[in-house]
Amino acid sequence: MDFRIQVSSPDSWADVACDALVLIVPADGGHQPAHDPALPAVLALAVSDATAQGDLSPKAGKCLYLHRPVGVRAARVVIVVAGADTPKAFKAAVVLGIQQLKGGGSKHVAVGFAGSAALNDAHAEALVTAVLDATYLYRHTKPSAPAASNIAKVTLLCSKAESKALQAGLVRGQAIGAGVLLAREWANRPGNHCTPTHLAQVARKLGKDHELKVEVLDRKACEKLGMGSFLSVAQGSAEPLRFIVARYDGAAKSVPPVVLVGKGITFDTGGISLKPGAEMDEMKYDMGGAASVLGALRAVAELKPKLNLVCIIPSCENMPGGNAVKPGDVVTSMSGQTIEILNTDAEGRLILCDALTYAERFKPAVVVDVATLTGACVVALGHHHSGLFTADDTVATQMLAAAQAGLDPCWRMPLDEEYDEGLKSHYADMANIGSRAGGAITAAMFLRRFTGKYRWAHLDIAGSAWKSGAAKGSTGRPVSLLTHFVLAQAA
Ligand code: BES
Ligand code: MN
Ligand code: ZN
Repeated sequence: MDFRIQVSSPDSWADVACDALVLIVPADGGHQPAHDPALPAVLALAVSDATAQGDLSPKAGKCLYLHRPVGVRAARVVIVVAGADTPKAFKAAVVLGIQQLKGGGSKHVAVGFAGSAALNDAHAEALVTAVLDATYLYRHTKPSAPAASNIAKVTLLCSKAESKALQAGLVRGQAIGAGVLLAREWANRPGNHCTPTHLAQVARKLGKDHELKVEVLDRKACEKLGMGSFLSVAQGSAEPLRFIVARYDGAAKSVPPVVLVGKGITFDTGGISLKPGAEMDEMKYDMGGAASVLGALRAVAELKPKLNLVCIIPSCENMPGGNAVKPGDVVTSMSGQTIEILNTDAEGRLILCDALTYAERFKPAVVVDVATLTGACVVALGHHHSGLFTADDTVATQMLAAAQAGLDPCWRMPLDEEYDEGLKSHYADMANIGSRAGGAITAAMFLRRFTGKYRWAHLDIAGSAWKSGAAKGSTGRPVSLLTHFVLAQAA
């Protein structure tokens, strides 16, 4: 996909050379662009007359399609009402415009914003991620599916004053958008097409394309490191585990890196504590944390900020079997702390804890782990916000700011000592589950026991990484949040 900006005053938008013009107008009806000259009469009239006739109400999300309107060079015009001037509202409007056009014959789409505020870099970033998101279609195991869209080029119309910031936004949007697509694609792939070995190959390919250092540890290497907790999850599966470490070096060696840790369970059956059958297929996205970390790494490697980044992905399957770990088994984590496994379905924390201990060797500036960790988080926050857990107010502020900048929301959850109570075990330093109540928090409290040596935040993306129902599939979240967070560490 080709994204550009074109300096073009609104009074010339009827003459823009393109196959389709998406005209975004604000809900307040004040379709007077910031860049002063008004829309050409043909477009202004279309908006005002359609509104007067009741064919276009000034409500966010309303659309009107015009085919070959006389006096307009583009064969198609889509008018979309945006709820506000914000990047968020702009993004929603772009998605609607593209959805109207993507199945048709348009190859080149131009987008003009007739709002009263000036566009900035966040709008341009939102445009790109919206277009990439709206035109993505999963085809890997369904190659017969027709391509989702013919759109190959998108031009954002703007004023001279806006153009510099918008160009920067387009660049960032393309990097983040590509990262989101990478994460979506891999989280959508079925467990037999996305194994730990595949994930390691993805990391290796990223390493080749972007000059990253990629190291992949196998079972033997993990045994040597004493990762008894991670190994206990992997032991029930015939599929070999992988422990992936990928580094982007954009600053001096002495600069402490940002470390991202992603849960890479390529299929979660629950193990001996087997999950019920309904919707178990969806547990192929239990590597969504890993996928989003790889997506963020791709975006960062493309944008080349002056910082160091390390990505760590413990990856295996969680399967029942003659060799599988059993409820009641006690394992020794890499940290030396022992864990009584009361439920083999609480496996995410068991693989993450060893990765969090492994992270210590990088003397990190900050560590963020990302995991489809608990069903309880879906109950608490639904599919909109990711759950953010950190005891560090500074990191919390930075994460919330990144979420806002990336239009990728998260919500801070509590981490008080009182929630640690439930992890007590008669037979080990801790159990791997607490009571059902506050399950997302007790999971985070478990991880917290392994993060004493650095600043740390945990994102539970069990809800945000996946959509159920008609639009079923992965979302590529929280690639945007993570990328913004990492980029802000360079500034
Ligand atoms: N991968 C699941 C969490 C999950 C559930 C993600 C639903 C997405 C949608 C995780 O490994 C798990 O099974 N967690 C258990 C923990 C429980 C046994 C304490 C859960 O949430 O039920
Ligand atoms: Mn599980
Ligand atoms: Zn899981």
